[in-house]
Amino acid sequence: MKVITKLRLFAALGGALLFAGGAAIAQPLHHTTSDTCKQCHQEIYKQWQGSMHANSTAFTDPIHATFYKNVVGDPGQEGVTTKAGKYPVCLQCHAPNAARDGKTKIDANPAYNEGVNCVACHSLKTFKGIEAGNGKLRLGIQAYELADAIQSPGRKSVNGLEKLTASNDLFGSGGGEQKPNPHQGEAVELDGKTIPSLPMESNPLMVRTSKNCMGCHDKRNNSHGVPLCNTGDEYKMSSSSVDCLACHMPINDGVADHSMGGGHDSAMLQRAVLFDLKGERGGDNIQLIATIKNLQPHSLPTGAPFRNIYMTVKAYDSEGSVIWSNTESHPAQDDKQAYLAYGLVDDEGKPTSPPKAKALGPDSRLKPFEERSLNYTLPAKGVVLVRGELHYNLLWPGLVKQFTHLPKDLTAPTLIAASEVAL
Ligand code: HEC
Ligand code: HEC
Ligand code: HEC
Ligand code: HEC
Ligand code: HEC
Repeated sequence: MKVITKLRLFAALGGALLFAGGAAIAQPLHHTTSDTCKQCHQEIYKQWQGSMHANSTAFTDPIHATFYKNVVGDPGQEGVTTKAGKYPVCLQCHAPNAARDGKTKIDANPAYNEGVNCVACHSLKTFKGIEAGNGKLRLGIQAYELADAIQSPGRKSVNGLEKLTASNDLFGSGGGEQKPNPHQGEAVELDGKTIPSLPMESNPLMVRTSKNCMGCHDKRNNSHGVPLCNTGDEYKMSSSSVDCLACHMPINDGVADHSMGGGHDSAMLQRAVLFDLKGERGGDNIQLIATIKNLQPHSLPTGAPFRNIYMTVKAYDSEGSVIWSNTESHPAQDDKQAYLAYGLVDDEGKPTSPPKAKALGPDSRLKPFEERSLNYTLPAKGVVLVRGELHYNLLWPGLVKQFTHLPKDLTAPTLIAASEVAL
């Protein structure tokens, strides 16, 4: 009974609770790890755990780690600053709970190293926008007003009426629920363990819209003001009013899917594009048209600047040997129209790395919903089949060569579409 009174008190203060040696210690919501949520939201936890959100820090994402260590420093040190002496902006998006505390030692608290975890997204209360005025950007969680209560889409949690009419239901979960509900202002018991009170507010205008994503996914500039990603601007250009969640959080088995696939997810990549190859003989030649259509209201590829797609087209003889190809080395070198990428250049207009870029180079990615046709003429002699393939890459070819320390699955191309013409 005493414990319950204490619990109520702390819950009223808006903090979650931890039990250490029987004593209740208030814990801010943003230190609550996904392990707490996992006890009841198992399916969502599994989806999230496999996502890049759960693997977004320099300890969990080897590509991010490579750049972070290079541009900022040691993710295991406290007090790390950028060369300009500032708090590393990366953490506002990649380790938001650490950013909330102004900390840089990411392994100091499991809630930091979980990256974009449950409470990171579910504590975003209102979206202020990323434009801070005077040309400055406020990025990641800085673009939001943050709450100390879980922000909910307001579907299953809209149960006040049920509570009124089910006064004997100790868990207040409206009856019929298998799990006790810790979101109603009191701690609950589950399998003999106490789950702290996890207060919740219904906030569908925020949680069920793209605003929930845009603080981190709109745009980000390097220190020279060059945009390194601008999914948000691309989206505005598309004039689409279908929000991000429609594709990135479909409802599966009755719950919003938290897998949120992108460039690391081959199934998502295969949905991204329509690809078709048509060919005709004319005299001694074959005329080929490759059609590539972006199905998204953002560029293809979008996101990090080194994402790219290249196309290979190969003509085969009746033995299955290649007798013609659109590229001998790499399309980036010898068939530029077949290389879809975002270019970053230095003062002299030469390709350079994201931190050093002074200007945008050529952007050959597909614009939102763009359909593009690429034409080829090749000698018809001996050709029985032409096959085209689209390959997605997380990194530019130059970085693939340079970053030999990365696991193969991050540097190898992913086949995302193929098309064939028999002649
Ligand atoms: C002891 C079990 C339990 C734990 C632990 C728990 N929840 Fe819940 N949660 C529930 C129940 C019960 C509901 C209401 C019905 C449902 O969704 O099954 C709910 C609903 C929600 C909703 C959706 C409400 C809606 O309107 O659809 C969100 C969001 C949520 N929880 C987030 C979290 C987060 C984040 C954590 C971890 C910090 C967490 N929960 C931990 C039991 C739990
Ligand atoms: C607090 C910042 C933050 C918020 C809010 C956020 N994200 Fe992310 N998201 C990230 C970061 C950081 C990564 C990349 C992690 C990495 O690759 O290291 C990411 C990765 C992704 C990816 C996968 C990219 C890939 O490389 O595979 C998708 C898709 C995505 N987010 C969609 C969303 C959607 C949809 C929302 C809104 C419901 C959202 N995100 C909200 C920070 C955020
Ligand atoms: C990248 C941001 C993001 C992260 C990370 C995230 N959520 Fe969510 N969550 C959302 C959004 C957005 C919705 C609303 C989807 C909708 O209703 O359209 C949501 C919905 C939910 C719901 C209600 C689902 C339903 O369909 O009723 C629950 C429960 C929930 N989240 C729990 C969690 C838990 C537990 C975690 C961690 C394991 C987590 N979330 C991580 C953004 C996030
Ligand atoms: C019509 C469905 C659709 C909509 C709407 C959509 N996306 Fe995507 N998104 C995709 C597909 C498919 C991919 C994989 C192909 C790619 O990377 O471009 C993707 C990829 C991504 C990636 C991965 C980039 C990377 O580096 O790996 C991010 C981030 C992303 N989307 C964010 C968003 C945001 C933010 C919105 C809302 C403004 C949004 N998406 C709206 C379908 C969609
Ligand atoms: C405004 C939020 C934001 C900031 C600030 C930010 N990032 Fe990211 N970063 C993202 C998101 C979102 C993704 C993944 C989706 C995409 O590609 O857009 C990402 C992806 C990456 C990737 C690719 C990871 C992979 O798995 O392929 C690297 C590398 C990276 N960021 C490095 C950094 C570094 C280093 C900094 C700081 C100098 C930084 N980022 C700052 C949001 C941010």
